[in-house]
This record gives sequence, C-alpha cells and structure tokens, in this order.
Amino acid sequence: MKLDIDFVRAQFPAFSEPVLQGQAFFENAGGSYTCAPVIDRLTRYYTQRKVQPYAPYEASRLAGEEMDEARARMAAILGVETDELSFGPSTTQNTYVLAQAVRQWMQPGEAIVVTNQDHEANSGPWRRLADEGIEVREWKIDPATGHLNPEDLEDLLDESVRLVCFPHCSNVVGEINPVTEITAMAHAAGAFVCVDGVSFAPHGFPDVGALGPDIYLFSAYKTFGPHQGLMVIRRALGALLPNQAHYFNADTLYKRFTPAGPDHAQVAASAGMADYYDALCDHHGGPGTGAVERAGFVNGLIRAHEVELLQPLLDAVSARNDLRLIGPSDAARRAPTVALALNRPAEPVAADLAAHGVMAGGGDFYAVRPLQAMGVDPAQGVLRLSFTHYTHPDEIAQLLTTLEKVL
Ligand SMILES: Cc1ncc(COP(=O)(O)O)c(C=O)c1O
Repeated sequence: MKLDIDFVRAQFPAFSEPVLQGQAFFENAGGSYTCAPVIDRLTRYYTQRKVQPYAPYEASRLAGEEMDEARARMAAILGVETDELSFGPSTTQNTYVLAQAVRQWMQPGEAIVVTNQDHEANSGPWRRLADEGIEVREWKIDPATGHLNPEDLEDLLDESVRLVCFPHCSNVVGEINPVTEITAMAHAAGAFVCVDGVSFAPHGFPDVGALGPDIYLFSAYKTFGPHQGLMVIRRALGALLPNQAHYFNADTLYKRFTPAGPDHAQVAASAGMADYYDALCDHHGGPGTGAVERAGFVNGLIRAHEVELLQPLLDAVSARNDLRLIGPSDAARRAPTVALALNRPAEPVAADLAAHGVMAGGGDFYAVRPLQAMGVDPAQGVLRLSFTHYTHPDEIAQLLTTLEKVL
C-alpha cells in the first residue's frame, strides 16, 4: 500500500490556492501547510463558539467539549493519558516554563545533560540552570557528521544527573536519534528524560508512551495544525515538579506547566490533526480501532513516501563537491530536513531558489550551537530543504533542476 499523494494533497487548501500555484514548498521544517480539518475547526470555533468555554450555555459547552476532544484524541495518538498532554503557546515557551519548574526542584551540585545538537529551544532554557549552581554537562556531537553517539552519553551519566535533554531529530542534522535506547540509558542511571520532538513529529506522530521519555515536546504549526506547542509530561515527573500554574490548578496535571490562559480556538482546532490522521488511515484501509495502531499505520505510509523522495535529493547533493551535506546521506536514517553548508552565505541562494518557484530558507535556524560545533559559520548559515509527506515527486524534480541552475 502506497500513500495516495493526490488524496493527501486534496486535504490541504494551500495546494489549490491560486497564489501558491507553481511554488514548490521546501521550508516545511519551519512550519507546514495546514490541513483542512484544522482550518474548518478553527473557522467553526471563531464563528460559532467564540465565547468563554466551559460555561452552562450551548455555545460555551461545545467550545469546551471541542478543546477536551483535541487533548483526548491527540493524547490517544501519542500513547499517553489525556491529562498528560498540555497545550502552550510554543515549544520554546513550554520549555522555559518547564525549566523554571526544574530550577525549583533541583539542588545545587546536581547535574543536567544537554546536547549541542539541539535547536536552542531545548538547550538555552536548560543551560541557564547553571546560574543556580546546577552542573550542566554537554553531550557533544561528532564535529564531522553531527552524529550524537549514545555511547558518549554513558560517560556523562552518574547519580547526580536528574535530567537528560536531547532532540528526537535535529532541525539541521536531520538524523533520527534512537529515543528508546537513550531513554533507557538515562532511566537506568536514575535520570528523567526530555525529548524535543519538533523536527520529528511532522514525519509521524510518535507513540510517546512506548518510546518512554518523561517529557516530549512538539509544535503543531509544523504538524499541519495551528500555532500551538504540545507537551507530554508523564505523571510521575509531573507530580514531582513544582506547580507553575495558579495554586488552585495544582492538582490538574495538564494545567500545572501551562500558566498562561490557553488559546481556546487553537486548542480546539488541534483535533483537526487527529481528523486528518483518521482520514488518511481510513482512506488507505488501515486498522479500524486503536489510536496508536491507526497512527502507526499512517506513519508507515508517510515514512515510505518520504524516504522514497528523499534519497534522490541526498544522492544529488552528495555528488557535488562544492557543498557539504549535513547529516547522513542515507534516507533511512534521517528526516527529510536537508541542510547544506555552501561556500557562501545561504540566504541569497534561498532567494535565488525563490525566483525559480522553490520556497526554501537559508540561515542558522536557531541551531547556532550545532552549526558551530560542525565548523559551519552561523553567519553564512545553511541552505535548508525540508519537505513532508504531502510533497509531490514533481516538486522534487523541480527542486533538483533548480538546484542545478542555482548552486
Ligand atoms: C527542533 C526544534 N525545536 C524547537 C523549536 C521551537 O519551537 P517553537 O517555535 O514552537 O518554539 C523549533 C522551531 O523551529 C525546532 O525546529
């Protein structure tokens, strides 16, 4: 069974938008197109439910019900309990709140592990704990490849480590890290685990319950949804960390680490991501029951399509000697987020691509630490070509032809 790309694209209004015709989109790691069910739910919320939710009148009751539905259905897809999933303004914002909780929980002299492969969102907030006398240990990538070696983590773990933070997949290296293996190592050493899934989740909603981390974060605006940060906090750690919300909300796990009032409409619209996954599952004849199983089926279709489209791109750029491909050249080991270090600043090259109808980005993508660690000047940055399962083979062909002209 192959992914029906025409069916997929029919779920995204952007592909039939006249202003976007002929524009091949390759900056999906920055933010994806939004699927129709999300847009429909958002519109319905703003037109029919835009009142304070959870009050005893019909519009409000439905508003609250749709917000609850979003949390319940996304939590089920992610393989966690409904109250273990919370929504916040963004992953960066969510991480800063979490870091504040961890700051209050940890003692001076205890340690935290961070990587230099992460986007700054899962790095800076944790590194600032050093101001409180907490030891920050850096798990370093291989400067040649950007690879994060789990064996190197072993040397950083001892009884003083409370938390290990790492990415499921870096937004410039693209390599998929073995979350289950790393989590097991950290747990065996008595540490909790925080995974930044922002670059991974657009390529398949993971079964977080099975993967095992205590915290898993991603951003819905990159997973075909609204601009929200989704944050899984497993119960054991959530109960241990000090409450960051109003004192009377302390006993509600999904409120403990989201002190701001939620964006009601966007939370409600997030159920559209589950609608979209359901539509994909049903259209392709996937299993009829089990949210995790159904999502796993969809993930398999998505992954196969992405790998098939990715390998020719990796082959084409690997064959050139005027650029450096960051991360693995084997599509099976990575997400379709392909960063290229050029022999010149990347942003003007992205502008050249735009002139040929290819939408891509150049810069540091807030991955300043990994770029520096790999000897790439963040001021020159990288050209990033990133796509998802809705990308058409014709767009890959357009990209390859355009790269030939522009590079
Ligand atoms: C890997 C990664 N982590 C975290 C973030 C931050 O997410 P947000 O924009 O939701 O704060 C990004 C944003 O691009 C990212 O690519």
